[in-house]
Amino acid sequence: MSGFVEKPEPRQVPGLVHLHTGKVRELYQNEAGDLVMVASDRVSAYDWVLPTEIPDKGRVLTRLSLWWFDILADLVPSHVLSTELPAGAPADWEGRTLVCKSLRMVPVECVARGYLTGSGLAEYEQTRTVCGLALPEGLVDGSELPAPIFTPATKAAVGDHDENVSYEEVARRIGAETAALLRQTTLAVYGRARDIARERGVILADTKFEFGFDADGGLVLADEVLTPDSSRFWPASSWEPGRPQLSYDKQYVRDWLTSPASGWDRRSEQPPPALPPEIVEATRAKYLEAYEMITGLPWR
Ligand SMILES: Nc1ncnc2c1ncn2[C@@H]1O[C@H](COP(=O)(O)OP(=O)(O)O)[C@@H](O)[C@H]1O
Ligand SMILES: [Mg+2]
Repeated sequence: MSGFVEKPEPRQVPGLVHLHTGKVRELYQNEAGDLVMVASDRVSAYDWVLPTEIPDKGRVLTRLSLWWFDILADLVPSHVLSTELPAGAPADWEGRTLVCKSLRMVPVECVARGYLTGSGLAEYEQTRTVCGLALPEGLVDGSELPAPIFTPATKAAVGDHDENVSYEEVARRIGAETAALLRQTTLAVYGRARDIARERGVILADTKFEFGFDADGGLVLADEVLTPDSSRFWPASSWEPGRPQLSYDKQYVRDWLTSPASGWDRRSEQPPPALPPEIVEATRAKYLEAYEMITGLPWR
């Protein structure tokens, strides 16, 4: 079992047609045919969208994505058209709503990894490969890889796992030329972002991008970019391969859910419970800290 603990009811806004409820975002189309993407404060963990929101999370993800889109613009254009609130939109959408180019999305999650952990580590321990790519012996949880790798995944529906796939499988699905363009762009963007984060004392262990094609056939960087929801950020000061790393994200949520305090069994059919206020506050603080560390800007 998984999915939404409580399925949110999308807001009705005159002039906007609601298209889709994602785990975190609501998608609408405006009268010009553009995509209106509204980031909520929802948080997901263990394939569930939790019943408790993290205040300001939607605005952190939006502001951080915009900051990165700007820095990356010479490598690949972003889907953002405007940050202006559409006429008639609720005032609380301010700061978490983007008008974007509606793209033909590539059905591949473009993951770049510079460090070994998570599903990459699990595969490595079995086969010494990640997404079919051979890696040297002796790597442990948190090790830096000899060079960053492109480890694509197929996107799952809400409540399902994404699945790692080989580069060859991606090339079969979307064509060799597009696959090569995605790999090259993913690694270029990862490399730039990793270096910038590094200067600020943050390790960008891995990250996921989504790309689409615009009406002219140009490749465009879409969705959210280089946020704590789409990336693993580790404080460089405490990085130590050989154990799980601290991270600027929803680690508190995951730790609490799997602790006896939550009373929840991940493997049961039961939906996860509401988060206690201290976990909400600690998680909110982590998201704000990530924003401030990475951008060097105060949140307020
Ligand atoms: N420019 C775009 N054009 C079309 N779809 C987009 C664009 N940018 C992002 N998307 C899609 O919008 C959705 C964002 O909502 P989100 O809550 O992150 O969904 P998910 O549950 O799939 O992660 C994703 O399905 C993403 O693929
Ligand atoms: Mg998403």
